[in-house]
Amino acid sequence: MRFLVSTLVFAGLATTGPAFADGYQRLEGHGGPIRGLSISADGHHALTASFDNSVGYWSLTGEATEPVWLDAHEAAANVATFLPGGDYALSAGDDFNLILWSLDNGTPVATLKGHKGKILDLSITSDGKLAASAGWDGFVGIWDLETRKPLAMLKGHRAPVQAVRFSADGKHLYSASSDSTVRRWTVADRAFDRVEVSHGFGVNRLVINDDAGWFAYGALDGGVRIVDIESGREISDITSGRQPVLALVLSRDGNRIAVGDGEGYIHVVDTTTWQTIRDFRAVPRGPVWALAFDPEARHIMAGTILDHADFWPVDDAVSVAESEGPIRAFHRDPATMTNGERQFARKCSICHTLDGTSGRRAGPTLYRIFGRKAGTLDGYQYSDALLGANLVWNDVSLDKLFDIGPDHYTPGSKMPMQRIVKREDRRDLIDYLRTATDGDDPLPGEKTE
Ligand code: HEC
Repeated sequence: MRFLVSTLVFAGLATTGPAFADGYQRLEGHGGPIRGLSISADGHHALTASFDNSVGYWSLTGEATEPVWLDAHEAAANVATFLPGGDYALSAGDDFNLILWSLDNGTPVATLKGHKGKILDLSITSDGKLAASAGWDGFVGIWDLETRKPLAMLKGHRAPVQAVRFSADGKHLYSASSDSTVRRWTVADRAFDRVEVSHGFGVNRLVINDDAGWFAYGALDGGVRIVDIESGREISDITSGRQPVLALVLSRDGNRIAVGDGEGYIHVVDTTTWQTIRDFRAVPRGPVWALAFDPEARHIMAGTILDHADFWPVDDAVSVAESEGPIRAFHRDPATMTNGERQFARKCSICHTLDGTSGRRAGPTLYRIFGRKAGTLDGYQYSDALLGANLVWNDVSLDKLFDIGPDHYTPGSKMPMQRIVKREDRRDLIDYLRTATDGDDPLPGEKTE
């Protein structure tokens, strides 16, 4: 069953006509934070990659509609990007896979396997022939998008790779890593070329402006520096002091760069003068994970800790108040909750709802979980591990699930490794779930007499 979704449009109703009216527009429907964003070259479509495992393909023109949901990742989707032409998209995530999608019908046309860790970033050459991937296994992957085969797994970084970018001519590939370096590779012979930067803190994000001859990187300590490609000299330092840097994007004309950070701010800088255009808080609390400019860089779209992406008018953006906007359950004041509710809010609510719908969360709803046979909620795509598990959820099995962890209790499960060590915490959580998941409404697909 699909969770019904609407797109809210704010002041300046962008229902028809130009892709971006004044005011801002919200893409709403995901069941988890948005980790990756991109806008098509013509500005007519957007992709959102979410913690809820899915990628949304949105139309930004005409009537606000529900997106096409691209569902095939088995864990959080971290990045999604258009291929040139806009007919295909490539996404990657915590399931270690890259998926190539036909946007004509929203179906996966190839799954590219080779990484042994999460994939945090992708880059595609301007001719659309090659893709590169940044793996937490320390490898930089190069993939042939025509044969849909791996070409190389480049080894050199000594820690997770966080970001990759091809140069505009496709001859070089740059990669940034938690090992604090930015490295350059030559694509033709798939060889290490040189270390560009050694920053001292992990480097999270990377953009290249070939025309202007520089690249920019953003790091764990909040550092944002601009480096001359030829000389390796620092051209500018636009560090705001907020950390870590989680998102970095360049406008199409290269004249604007935007930084998203762990403290919820978006900092937009003019790259011709290195002066701040706008520095504003986009989310009351929590990180800005992803950013994308529209083709004219008049608007910037942000994916945050919240379940939706917002467009901001770059020149007029003003900070949200700390108290403003919807706050996720785990941001509520813990003092107002019982221990069981607190356990759920902190450890489960990001992936599970308690009502009759799964709400596009990564996991199935826990509504009426007591007495449910494992792996039997209609419409949810379980792992084989849960489909084959001969288990009924009750006090005993739920306690065991978090005592020894899903990886031991239901090996092969899609639910991430996690344990609740304290017996009282497990007991309080289960007590809370018993009342919070109770009800008389039928579950999706359930027969009613
Ligand atoms: C990061 C996401 C995530 C978190 C956090 C998480 N789960 Fe899950 N959970 C899942 C996924 C995904 C599945 C489906 C597993 C599968 O198909 O292998 C699942 C399955 C389950 C199931 C089995 C449901 C069924 O229909 O058989 C139960 C019960 C459950 N989770 C309870 C919890 C509780 C309680 C917590 C908090 C202590 C929790 N989960 C935290 C993602 C998560």
